[in-house]
Amino acid sequence: MLTRPEEVLNTQTSSRKPLIVIIDDEQSMLDLLQDALADLEVRVLTSADPEEGLKIIERERPPIVLLDLNMPKMHGMQVLERIVGFDPGIEVLLLTGDYSTSSAVQAIQKGAADYLTKPVSIATLRARITKSLQEMETKRETFQLDGELVSSFKFQGMVARSPWMLDLFSKMRRISPHFRTVLVTGPSGTGKELVARALHAMSPAGSSAFVVCNCAGIPESLAESEWFGYVKGAFTGANQDKMGLFEHANGGSIFLDEIGEMPLNLQAKLLRVLQSHEIQRVGSPVARKLDVRVIAATNRDLKQEVREKRFREDLYYRLSVVEMKLPTLAERKEDLPLLQRHFVEKFAAEYNKNVGGISRRAQNLLSRYHWPGNIRELENVIGNACMMVDGPVIDIAHLPPELSQPESGGADSPFMSLADLEKNHVRRVMEMVGGNKLRAAEILGISRSTLYNLLGSAESSEKAVKTG
Ligand SMILES: Nc1ncnc2c1ncn2[C@@H]1O[C@H](COP(=O)(O)OP(=O)(O)OP(=O)(O)O)[C@@H](O)[C@H]1O
Ligand SMILES: [Mg+2]
Repeated sequence: MLTRPEEVLNTQTSSRKPLIVIIDDEQSMLDLLQDALADLEVRVLTSADPEEGLKIIERERPPIVLLDLNMPKMHGMQVLERIVGFDPGIEVLLLTGDYSTSSAVQAIQKGAADYLTKPVSIATLRARITKSLQEMETKRETFQLDGELVSSFKFQGMVARSPWMLDLFSKMRRISPHFRTVLVTGPSGTGKELVARALHAMSPAGSSAFVVCNCAGIPESLAESEWFGYVKGAFTGANQDKMGLFEHANGGSIFLDEIGEMPLNLQAKLLRVLQSHEIQRVGSPVARKLDVRVIAATNRDLKQEVREKRFREDLYYRLSVVEMKLPTLAERKEDLPLLQRHFVEKFAAEYNKNVGGISRRAQNLLSRYHWPGNIRELENVIGNACMMVDGPVIDIAHLPPELSQPESGGADSPFMSLADLEKNHVRRVMEMVGGNKLRAAEILGISRSTLYNLLGSAESSEKAVKTG
């Protein structure tokens, strides 16, 4: 029985060697490419028939595919779409006969990693494949490392490694045994409630009650009885004694969420509780002693509220002795990969799906977006993506369309100068081609030196923004 050389390889030493699948309608081309790759540390499978090639790819899931663009039976672009459709993690390198920038751009937009122009130089091909393999190895290592990092950078259910957050964690550790009042501030979705719960859990009262009180939710007329309770007969309908939230929290902590929304007269009542450590049920002359930790949170700038007379200055000073300030997600972008990984794991488990990662171009989109809804928005985006995805890799198609809008880079507007527009466009093309300057210059239709100039000016203006 005749055995094909790659199958011999398969059964012998090479089970761990990465597989490269080549699809080209010309057998001579297949032979040539296969020879060119013969002494690299790879296995090669070839097919002159696109349908058959797709079956091999679907079955074997090779990390790299070399794909001819012009094939009579099925155009390479169509084959590319199908590959990306079932596994966007596969790196597809296109072989284009008649070089045209527009089809190259189209191919890269559709998910090709790169393209090589025919006649392919063997040295270029080998160098390109080697580069891809090295990148994959690094990515694999980082992904494994990230897995470990996620657990080592978990603190009370919070994932972070940015200096700001690590600082915050150490502050939390220091104050948790002692605090009586803490103010947690930060924009919506930055994790204020998570911090509040963690502070309580780490405090000596960690196993006692954590009572949540939303200061924006209670009508002013009801707030006092909600908070402090009432005694029978205090008002019509008060048929029996009732405990308020503060008493429920006795021995534990009360979380006063959205404290910036609290009406002024209630602020006065809260201040009295904080000063005296006692409450009085509505309708009762008796004061009851309380042992409660108070954790207040707001997304407002309370100092500003004080200036505008919407928040009592004395209460503000009372609350803000210890302040935990949370950064926006945009201010801690270095946490993004860890958080992504954390949420992919969380939702893969929740939906019982085998989702292992996020494609490179989808990661590019995620890191370019400005995240106005902060971590909550990221959590929702990844949660939805995990629900939508069929294969093992989350790709652009699984992300909401607003992430691909130009303004998601925080950039283009009708009032922008041409120069800025140009810089943004160059940056976007560079991202699309994974930083390959030669490709970017080709797509932009400019020389490489012009591109270098443009990149130089984009970088120096970025620095100016950062330092200035
Ligand atoms: N560091 C983190 N690691 C993992 N998950 C986080 C982290 N920070 C926040 N989250 C998650 O993000 C979501 C929003 O967090 P949280 O509710 O604490 O925000 P918030 O600041 O209270 O928002 P809002 O002001 O809108 O009430 C939650 O599901 C929370 O679990
Ligand atoms: Mg909240």
